[in-house]
Amino acid sequence: MNELVIAPSILSADFAALGEDCRSVEHAGADWLHVDVMDGHFVPNLTIGPVVVESLRKASSMFLDCHLMVADPLEYGRRIAKAGADLVSFHLEAAMDPGAVIDGLRECGVQVGLVINPGRSPEEIFPYLERLDLVLVMSIWAGFGGQKFMDSAPGRIETLANQIQHRGLKTRLEVDGGINATTSRLVRDAGADTLVAGTAIFGQTDRLTAIQSLRA
Ligand code: DX5
Ligand code: ZN
Repeated sequence: MNELVIAPSILSADFAALGEDCRSVEHAGADWLHVDVMDGHFVPNLTIGPVVVESLRKASSMFLDCHLMVADPLEYGRRIAKAGADLVSFHLEAAMDPGAVIDGLRECGVQVGLVINPGRSPEEIFPYLERLDLVLVMSIWAGFGGQKFMDSAPGRIETLANQIQHRGLKTRLEVDGGINATTSRLVRDAGADTLVAGTAIFGQTDRLTAIQSLRA
């Protein structure tokens, strides 16, 4: 089993004090920064692009876990990789040929992840498993922070965890959406090793306690 990784989602940070907010979670023991890239097409929300990733790269040495919610994952994934991402993940639903996007991103020297929204079956990821560093299971519909965790998520995580174990892979299994001290237990029991949390971390002034309670 991989070590547990806590990845605060900066979508819930104060964008006018982003550097400071990133340092606060680093000092509080966070492992990665989760960066939500939305283009206003694939999801009805618009957020961070390559310019901000470039600034984050200069401001922090933390692992930048970039979650693309964009209609053209290869084009924007390349730009996000070039801007300094460590890992780029894209939605299965956004790619006509997911294998080609995986290859194209890998050529940019980043780790690669594949994401599924609640409407898609986890089995659809199986053909790509060997080629991925990470699988991200959404426990909400991608697009906005602060949504309620969906009860269907643990079962979907378990299906993927069993398959990863069965094939003897080291692929990380990440979960994103509505993660807090209660739901983190459910998803870890199901086999998730990488937890994204926005509201549960940046919504708290005591970020050390917030992160510790996700690890507990
Ligand atoms: C939403 C994003 C999430 C979001 C999670 O589409 O992918 O990363 O920031 O926020 P919380 O933890 O508040 O559900
Ligand atoms: Zn995300």
